[in-house]
Amino acid sequence: MATNITFHEGSVDAQERSNLLQQRGVTIWLTGLSASGKSTIACALEQHLLHLRKFSYRLDGDNIRFGLNKDLGFDEKSRNENIRRIGEVSKLFTSACCITLTAFISPYRADRALARTLHESAGLAFVEVYVDAPLEVVEARDPKGLYKKARAGEIKDFTGISAPYEPPEKPEIHIKTHESDLSESVRIIVEYLAEKGFI
Ligand SMILES: Nc1ncnc2c1ncn2[C@@H]1O[C@H](COP(=O)(O)OP(=O)(O)O)[C@@H](O)[C@H]1O
Ligand SMILES: [Mg+2]
Repeated sequence: MATNITFHEGSVDAQERSNLLQQRGVTIWLTGLSASGKSTIACALEQHLLHLRKFSYRLDGDNIRFGLNKDLGFDEKSRNENIRRIGEVSKLFTSACCITLTAFISPYRADRALARTLHESAGLAFVEVYVDAPLEVVEARDPKGLYKKARAGEIKDFTGISAPYEPPEKPEIHIKTHESDLSESVRIIVEYLAEKGFI
């Protein structure tokens, strides 16, 4: 724990930054089981927003675990710390007026609540998107073969099989990827962003 530190305010406040860049930041937090479609949706959404010339950036679970979070595993404490750091990083991007897309299983309600609180207490917008599909569906998709390995006992603490997933109770957006295809899933989020004046 650091002591003797003082927060140094910038010369440009949040409102002025947003006016100058003509964009409001928002964190779009995608949560759901492995293979529910978080990364696929985040990629397509990021591409769509960039083509609209919006400053958008994707933070993706696996990618972040190659770098910033390479020291963390998948036990409960590591998952808590994984999400705490992502909450802080997404807050930084969003305060830089980015449309920040996060794609993490983020299975624990308390962790997602913490990420939300980090944003909202700083006056930053946080949109929770439940990327939902039943276990049978995601297990049948199994794009990385992970469910097969988890069923065979080769991966421990696997969400949905041997580790819990706590679904959001009141997400801003609920997408059922077994009912909506990719373009429909992206459209739902884009419409929400337009309706709220982010794009
Ligand atoms: N509506 C949909 N949205 C996103 N992905 C979908 C959808 N329907 C089927 N899929 C498929 O489901 C899989 C989701 O994988 P991925 O995006 O890597 O999931 P996650 O990042 O949640 O683990 C992909 O193979 C994708 O093609
Ligand atoms: Mg993914």
